[in-house]
Amino acid sequence: MSHLSRVHSLSRNRQAVRRFADRPVPPELLERILDCGRYAVSAGEDQPWRFIVVQERLTRHRLSEAAFNSEYVKTAPIVIVGCARVHSRISGHGKPAFPTDLAVATQSMAIGAVDQGLQVAWITGFRESIVRSLLGVPPDIPVVTLLCIGYPDGFERLPPRRPFTEVVAWDRWEGGAE
Ligand SMILES: Cc1cc2nc3c(=O)[nH]c(=O)nc-3n(C[C@H](O)[C@H](O)[C@H](O)COP(=O)(O)O)c2cc1C
Repeated sequence: MSHLSRVHSLSRNRQAVRRFADRPVPPELLERILDCGRYAVSAGEDQPWRFIVVQERLTRHRLSEAAFNSEYVKTAPIVIVGCARVHSRISGHGKPAFPTDLAVATQSMAIGAVDQGLQVAWITGFRESIVRSLLGVPPDIPVVTLLCIGYPDGFERLPPRRPFTEVVAWDRWEGGAE
């Protein structure tokens, strides 16, 4: 694997961000990011996502409180709240597809953001009921992810990745349950 493709290079050379700079994101960049999510693949082409774009300072502050005072949410100029229509299709043998669909759309938006010089942070640890009432999300609509987007305020080294041989198996499961 000597030559890095563009996406491979983005994946390998990504840096972790813990705080965002107090710098606005141009609207055209945000629209492109949202369009990356809109065009994401989904089970049964159901497109169950609904993205709430939160930019208002007070609402972001409240969101950060709901996310256990997350520094990411507190400092990001934009937080995209990913919700799912639960009456969306159930794939395969009754396993809900919406968490995976939302993850795919979130990753598409993340790549769209990084490709334009921005950085992102995902949050799944938040009090869903508080986020729901804060943003007026109906009770039967799950709130799946928060995606914080902005320009980075410094970087940290990426945590080391597990070696290739530990995470990839060929043709069948290898090793024990660990
Ligand atoms: C699906 C997902 C959920 C995450 N949820 C949280 C969270 O609730 N709170 C938090 O502080 N970080 C959260 N993170 C951030 C990760 O814990 C990690 O700090 C971040 O991805 C930086 O890792 P990196 O060094 O690989 O970029 C989440 C990341 C992902 C991908």
